[in-house]
Amino acid sequence: MKQVQPYSALASVYDLVMSHVDYEGWADFLVHLVDMHLPEASGLRALELGAGTGLLTDALYDASDWDLTLSDYSPDMLAAAGRRFPDGDVAIRHLDFGGEWKLGAETFDIILLMYDGFNYLLEPAGVHALLRGVTAHLAPGGLFLFDQSTPHNSINNAEFFEDEGEEDGFEYRRTSHFDPASAIHTTAFDIKTPTGRFHEEHRQRAWTRAAVEALLATHPLEVVASFDGFSLDPAHDESERVHWVLKRPA
Ligand SMILES: C[S@@+](CC[C@H](N)C(=O)[O-])C[C@H]1O[C@@H](n2cnc3c(N)ncnc32)[C@H](O)[C@@H]1O
Repeated sequence: MKQVQPYSALASVYDLVMSHVDYEGWADFLVHLVDMHLPEASGLRALELGAGTGLLTDALYDASDWDLTLSDYSPDMLAAAGRRFPDGDVAIRHLDFGGEWKLGAETFDIILLMYDGFNYLLEPAGVHALLRGVTAHLAPGGLFLFDQSTPHNSINNAEFFEDEGEEDGFEYRRTSHFDPASAIHTTAFDIKTPTGRFHEEHRQRAWTRAAVEALLATHPLEVVASFDGFSLDPAHDESERVHWVLKRPA
């Protein structure tokens, strides 16, 4: 089995792996959060970070009138996204959100980072790079929405991180291990495609809500809300997933 970079071989089975996810419901929730904080706005320019193959982007396209730009750092995920949007309805950019952003002078009214992309940042330096990039490319008064999963998610939902699937000659098996001492969650994928067998290992940090709050406090973005999971209840220290809403001061 060939060891390959995260999100290379996985791109060919990513939509299958995510077939249980309610992206339409997630998009409706995000549009509602934006409506709550930017009422009456229309035609907002939105940049999605770590957008992968564009599953959420597609649902946002249907759920909003936003002018969407999708980005990711994986060439294979971006290629799959390009096949999803062949008509240029959504702009596509290569962008490492934990590094130096190369977007020129482009600004956006909304920046989004969803489904644990934040958790791929293993160290505070990556979080600071993300927040610098967001601050530089968010229009004054614009919103940054991101989610994070916490150690409670890794511990409480261990059974959901182990599964397998098969479709049209593509197969995957996912196994997972969480180390509470380091807070590192490792997910391994064995992938079989018509061109071979591949192994990917993904490392993510299960940041606590409090650790993220402390990092956010060192940046000029204003935290306007943090929600427990997909509810409108405030996030708390037992939350498994937190949705953060930040605003660039006008
Ligand atoms: C779990 S997937 C989520 C994809 C998409 N948001 C979704 O909901 O289906 C995480 C994505 O983040 C991307 N990613 C991880 N770290 C990144 C980084 N530093 N810069 C850009 N993309 C990154 C991966 O390539 C992958 O496509």
